[in-house]
Amino acid sequence: MNQQSLVRQIFASTGRSYDRMVKVTTLWQDNMWKKRILTIAEQTTPQTILDLACGTGILTFALAERFPESTVVGIDLQQEYLQYARAKQRKKDVKNVKFLQKNAEDVSEGHYDLITASYLPKYITIDVVISNCSRILTPQGLLIFHDFIYPEKAAFRFFYNVYWVFLKALLGMSDPWKGMSRELKHIIVETTWVNDMKDALELYGFTNIQVEPQPLEVAAIVYAVKCNS
Ligand SMILES: C[S@@+](CC[C@H](N)C(=O)[O-])C[C@H]1O[C@@H](n2cnc3c(N)ncnc32)[C@H](O)[C@@H]1O
Repeated sequence: MNQQSLVRQIFASTGRSYDRMVKVTTLWQDNMWKKRILTIAEQTTPQTILDLACGTGILTFALAERFPESTVVGIDLQQEYLQYARAKQRKKDVKNVKFLQKNAEDVSEGHYDLITASYLPKYITIDVVISNCSRILTPQGLLIFHDFIYPEKAAFRFFYNVYWVFLKALLGMSDPWKGMSRELKHIIVETTWVNDMKDALELYGFTNIQVEPQPLEVAAIVYAVKCNS
């Protein structure tokens, strides 16, 4: 099964409970990680922002609120998630956000000062996406990617594996989340997104490349600046 089909399968029908699930399953760390993304984003004053794999728009709306003068585009593969995002937009009456159904690997048009992605890197061919981002980022534009990682330190790994025993049981109790319960840990253990991203950022001429493992090493944020030329 290719990555896109796998993503469609494991996220099918999860949109309604996603916002609650992401808080509980990350033990409320998701909020901290997104706050850190916003703080890093403040290195720039972006006019145009692209949020790849926006899902139900948690980060997209936070960016739109933090940078009210900007235009924010959120893209995602899943129509179902976008429907929830658009419903929130109507409810909050947010004007500076637009949601589009698109594969992050196919985004190659537009000009953006800031590109973000939260929980996308493990599902994509990093080289393709960074290459596209290098074309659509404006000079000095900022790229911030965030996702889960498998802890390297033995002590963290031990607690992580224990946590996953409970998490698998929790996800497995809800029909829509059963696919995620089966696949997600394996995807996280196998992914090499941080190193792939560092290599791709160097290859496509990014500067100030920073890798920030988050507390307990269960997630990382990687960010870099597009060079002038
Ligand atoms: C865990 S959700 C994260 C949503 C949001 N970024 C957040 O932080 O809450 C992962 C999202 O990635 C999307 N996704 C995965 N692969 C994608 C791709 N190639 N192009 C666009 N979206 C993708 C899925 O559809 C899903 O909505």
